[in-house]
Amino acid sequence: MKFIIGNWKMNGNTEQKDVLLKSIKNVQTNNKIVICLPFTLLHGNDFGITIGAQDISEHTNGAYTGDISGQMLKDANIKYVIVGHSERRFYHNETNDIVKAKATTAVAYGITPIICIGETQSERNMGRTMSVVKKMLLESVPDYGEYIIAYEPRWAIGSGTTPSVSEIKAIHETIFKTLRNINRENTPILYGGSVDEENAKTITSVAHVDGLLIGRASLKSDTFLPIIKSID
Ligand code: 13P
Repeated sequence: MKFIIGNWKMNGNTEQKDVLLKSIKNVQTNNKIVICLPFTLLHGNDFGITIGAQDISEHTNGAYTGDISGQMLKDANIKYVIVGHSERRFYHNETNDIVKAKATTAVAYGITPIICIGETQSERNMGRTMSVVKKMLLESVPDYGEYIIAYEPRWAIGSGTTPSVSEIKAIHETIFKTLRNINRENTPILYGGSVDEENAKTITSVAHVDGLLIGRASLKSDTFLPIIKSID
């Protein structure tokens, strides 16, 4: 079983959501499918597909205009939430400390955080990928509870380029070993960044790749269903 998680980012409407979820419902798969939708689309899932959110506040409740609490996500029956996506880290200045606080809040409400880590292009150019990824990982994970890690190199997101298979292998192995050192060797590790129908099967065949976090290709059944089918 692999996780195949879609991240719709700031895209989509009710009709598009219904079309995609209905089409997924008709596919036979042993994989775990989750679609992380914008907040306005989280309610009202009639198709039995697991829905996730894209952010959670680290605060319990109160004067935090525009934020969404763990209680609210729980109330909407949400089981997964992405935290620390590179777009949140970049556009909203989310630090590892904030990401850890968000992941801790999610766990407290019985929601599994999907914690994103990954190096930038310049960190990669300087040969700092491993050290950056390790530090982000250790500083972003909660002290207790179950979670999922998504390795998403920032430079690979939306670019049409992915790391080579040997790079993915080396980085996922490093993430696995780092998790093992903190007794978390059973944590699923996903890859994300320019996943498509062409590369999904190859990437999920790499050791310690337990699934995929998919942006653009998760928006439409034309591009998403072939990925699900290719991995079964
Ligand atoms: P793309 O699949 O569009 O590159 O996006 C990846 C991503 O950011 C998923 O969270």
